[in-house]
Amino acid sequence: MRNLQLNSHGELQHLLTIEGLSREMLIAILDAAAPFTEVAEREVKKLPLLRGKSVFNLFFEPSTRTRTTFEIAAKRLSADVINLNIDASSTSKGETLLDTVDNLAAMQADMFVVRHGSSGAPHLIAEHLLATGSDHIHVVNAGDGRHAHPTQGLLDMYTIRNYKKDFTGLTVAIVGDILHSRVARSQIHALTTLGVPEVRVIGPKTLLPTSVERLGVRVFHDMREGLRGVDVVMMLRLQNERMQGALLPSPQEFFKSYGLTLEKLALAKPDAIVMHPGPMNRGIEIDSAVADGPHAVILPQVTFGIAVRMAVMSMLAGG
Ligand code: CP
Repeated sequence: MRNLQLNSHGELQHLLTIEGLSREMLIAILDAAAPFTEVAEREVKKLPLLRGKSVFNLFFEPSTRTRTTFEIAAKRLSADVINLNIDASSTSKGETLLDTVDNLAAMQADMFVVRHGSSGAPHLIAEHLLATGSDHIHVVNAGDGRHAHPTQGLLDMYTIRNYKKDFTGLTVAIVGDILHSRVARSQIHALTTLGVPEVRVIGPKTLLPTSVERLGVRVFHDMREGLRGVDVVMMLRLQNERMQGALLPSPQEFFKSYGLTLEKLALAKPDAIVMHPGPMNRGIEIDSAVADGPHAVILPQVTFGIAVRMAVMSMLAGG
């Protein structure tokens, strides 16, 4: 069965997950994003690559960074952007997700950017569009349940490449709630595909998926041990909304063992960078002295997200 994400020419048709995409494809997206960063720096505001196209933002879960940067990216590519207000849409009256999709398809949509609490929702939409003959509409996964957040994974790779240049000599640590994190899954698939030789995951047993080693990572439960000599520290948010039962003693205890402080960061390489996808919980995952300190590249991540999303959307649209 062919990969739903690729068309018969091997080009990107939808972006649903990083898993299964080739190293060449990931590099092509990162390379495509670079000129968009330069365009933004030169203050050339709009490019005509998506002129006449309609991009629908369908966010069934809250978002600050992803929704807004997709909107900025689409507008910079000259698309018409429609932000569906889910609370005021017919979904709140019981309409199914696929009925909503059919109605938006009937409005001549060209692209759906989808965030949903259920893992697999964007995949379901892409399959439905194929089955109903509407697969000219592209689907971009903007985060589904605990499954994947591919554009976050890509903007994280863009950030690492910007500061470290080459992936093949790096040691990268991902810290915190790996179990519930779609971001962590996308980061792990991207890092291993791009040839990072050592990817570490650091967290308590209750917040690590069983058999996570199968993804090609080294597991550490002791944060100090896991941070020793790393080039990149990728912090994660505690996904309280996805936790069932008591997986943590308390936020204070979590911070003591797994919060990133200046003292713990000193164990990483002197030029290590600190990343966080946001939203950050200061004093729970990360100390403000680190979040606002010289190693943090958390806000540049957000800015790079615009260029990466411009690259993804223009590649989908055949640019
Ligand atoms: N990183 C991220 O997905 O942030 P938002 O939830 O604000 O989009």
